[in-house]
Amino acid sequence: MDHYLVYGNPIKQSKSPFIHTAFAKETNQNIEYKSQLAELGEFEQTVKLFIKGGGKGANVTAPFKEEAMAMCDELSEHAQFSGAVNTLTFKNGKIYGDTTDGVGLVSDLLSQNVQLENSRILLLGAGGASKGVVLPLLHQKPKHLTIANRTVSKAETIAQQYANQPITAMSFEDANKQEFDLIINATSAGLTGNGVPISETLISNNTACYDMTYGKSLTPFLQMATKQNAKQIIDGLGMLVGQAAESFYLWRGVRPETSKVLNELRKELNQ
Ligand code: ATR
Repeated sequence: MDHYLVYGNPIKQSKSPFIHTAFAKETNQNIEYKSQLAELGEFEQTVKLFIKGGGKGANVTAPFKEEAMAMCDELSEHAQFSGAVNTLTFKNGKIYGDTTDGVGLVSDLLSQNVQLENSRILLLGAGGASKGVVLPLLHQKPKHLTIANRTVSKAETIAQQYANQPITAMSFEDANKQEFDLIINATSAGLTGNGVPISETLISNNTACYDMTYGKSLTPFLQMATKQNAKQIIDGLGMLVGQAAESFYLWRGVRPETSKVLNELRKELNQ
């Protein structure tokens, strides 16, 4: 049996053991996947102990994604661009790092029939969550990708990473004057109960609205989308399952079916 872990601090809330255990059952993979709390300042030594004990791979969540990146021998293109790693693979004495959040987001958007190719996309926020999804979104060939952030310089730093790509950084105020087909909230504003500072007139029945976070009730951004009768209103639960599916694929070479797990998580969330 191969062993996998997810590290974080805190970690109790993680749904990854449930998701990966369901994937393993569905694809007949003989693995065990558990969560483990890593103490702050002890992440690297904790992972190295797991490798010594024969661990095959690990997921990494807050606040260790940058530390995980620093300990890798090789990084995928996605990890290099996002500056963070959420998936570690231990093979032939080496540590490989990847980040699957962006692929998870794109696969969820596509599975919900959100048009990405040739679309005008607005990404709200320029923190870690935003950085991790830019490259996979650009791979879908949008008409343009606009990153708006309260601190505009952070959005500019991200945009500058992508030469010759249709990507622009701007303030919320400037974004409010444009038109978009898809708005993705990657700010952490909702976690503190705050809405995002965009004008509600940006959202019409032609706009798809996606929030990378999720919860029992709609986030303030999705409440605004509902009020504006947005074309599609989607929270980040599918992205969570999508990123897990991509990690599972990297480790096991098999693509799990995601809809059943997603339905179960949705049911649990609504209880
Ligand atoms: P994460 O890893 O979740 O992206 P982060 O790196 O701390 O977390 O980034 C948080 C993002 O949410 C940033 O883009 C932040 O804007 P600033 O860069 O200007 O700080 C954004 N954010 C947080 N609270 C916000 C609020 N109330 N209104 C608008 N943006 C907010």
